[in-house]
Amino acid sequence: MRLPVRTLLIFLTASLTAVAACRQPAPASGAPPETYAPGLGELMTFQQMRHTKLWFAGQALNWDLAAYELDELGEGFDDIIKFHPTHKDSPVAPKDAIPRMVTQPLADLRAAVTKKDSTAFVERYDALTAACNNCHEATNFGFNRVQRPASNPYPNQVFSPPSQ
Ligand code: HEC
Repeated sequence: MRLPVRTLLIFLTASLTAVAACRQPAPASGAPPETYAPGLGELMTFQQMRHTKLWFAGQALNWDLAAYELDELGEGFDDIIKFHPTHKDSPVAPKDAIPRMVTQPLADLRAAVTKKDSTAFVERYDALTAACNNCHEATNFGFNRVQRPASNPYPNQVFSPPSQ
C-alpha cells in the first residue's frame, strides 16, 4: 500500500508529539519546596563565633571590625527571634528574652566601640557575656556557659586594623 506523503507526515508529527508528551516531567504536586531553617543551636554557634571575634577586634583596637561584629550579633539575634520565637519547653521565649536581656548590653558595647574606649569595651564585653549566660540559665541551658575567649581560634584572619 502506498500512502501519500502528506498522510505520512501527519503520522510522523502525531507520533513525535506523543513521545514528547510522555517525556514531560510529572506535574508538580502543589506542595511548597522544603526550605532550610537553621536550628537555634546552629544560630547560637554563629553568635559564639561573632562573640569571639568581637573580643579580638577590641583587643586589637580594630574598631571597624568590632562595630561589624556587633552588627552581625544584632542580625543573628534578629534571625533567632524570626526562626525561633519560642523554644522547646523553655520557660522563657527567645522573642521576649532577647529584647529584655541583650538589647541594652549590645547598645552599651556599641557606645564603647564608637568612642574607641578600650576600658569601657572590656567592661561592657563582660556585661554582654553575662547576659548571654543569664539567658542560658533562663531557658534551662545554664550548662552552656560562655566567657572571654582564652585564645584565638582564627589564625587566618587579621585582627589588627589595616595600616593607614
Ligand atoms: C534567648 C536567650 C539566649 C541568649 C540571649 C543567648 N543564648 Fe545562647 N543559647 C540559648 C539556647 C536556648 C541555647 C540552646 C539551643 C539548642 O541547642 O537547642 C543556646 C545555645 C548556645 C550555645 C551552644 C551551641 C552549640 O550547639 O554548641 C552557645 C555557644 C551559645 N548559646 C552562645 C551564646 C552567646 C555567645 C550569646 C550572647 C552573645 C548567647 N548565646 C545568647 C539561648 C540564648
